[in-house]
Amino acid sequence: MDKSGYFDRSRKDEWAFTPYTPEEHAKLDRFLDAAGISPGAKVLEPGCGTGRLTEKLSARVGPAGEVVAVDISSGMVEECRRRAGGLPNVRIVQGPVEEIGFPPHHFDAIFCLCVFPHFDDKRKTLRLLREWLAPAGSLTLAHLEGSRILNRMHRETGGPVKGDRIPPHPEMQELFREAGLRIGRFRDEDDGYLLVAYPD
Ligand SMILES: C[S@@+](CC[C@H](N)C(=O)[O-])C[C@H]1O[C@@H](n2cnc3c(N)ncnc32)[C@H](O)[C@@H]1O
Repeated sequence: MDKSGYFDRSRKDEWAFTPYTPEEHAKLDRFLDAAGISPGAKVLEPGCGTGRLTEKLSARVGPAGEVVAVDISSGMVEECRRRAGGLPNVRIVQGPVEEIGFPPHHFDAIFCLCVFPHFDDKRKTLRLLREWLAPAGSLTLAHLEGSRILNRMHRETGGPVKGDRIPPHPEMQELFREAGLRIGRFRDEDDGYLLVAYPD
């Protein structure tokens, strides 16, 4: 099974589908604050899954903003359309984010929730994301748990996500530097991972 097939089958799994708890909402609000996402922002959400964050982003950027939610899995996109497809400031696109093609400097923020480990060519993807960011934009990688737990979870899950991981921080620093991104905020503890970067 390939990765999109794996995620198709996960669309109703608790980790992908169940609405966020109040604690998760609070954590995500802190992440979105750290990313500087505010009303009127144009936001790209790679790996939107079933659209739980898409809804939050839509509310946060408001009618003057825009959320482009992208996912490789047709099953996830179907769920996302059900949840967020009616929101006027949301556009949902199916495909690998690396292959969609956006205008340079289009987005004020790119927010990757629980997707970065799944990018097969992280170097190439970061360069692309950097290209699509406005000069004063932010790129955020966020997870509800830290890299230690997350990397172990993927290893134990096996299948096509077995090797998907957040690289050790020195490797991340190198990847971001090569992509022309400066890491501003960084925190990696068992209760969450947050990295916010800006164009150099
Ligand atoms: C762990 S899930 C997280 C979903 C959602 N962000 C959330 O937190 O509930 C990862 C998602 O990323 C998607 N994905 C993986 N690689 C992708 C890629 N290259 N482009 C777009 N989506 C991708 C998967 O299909 C899956 O829906």
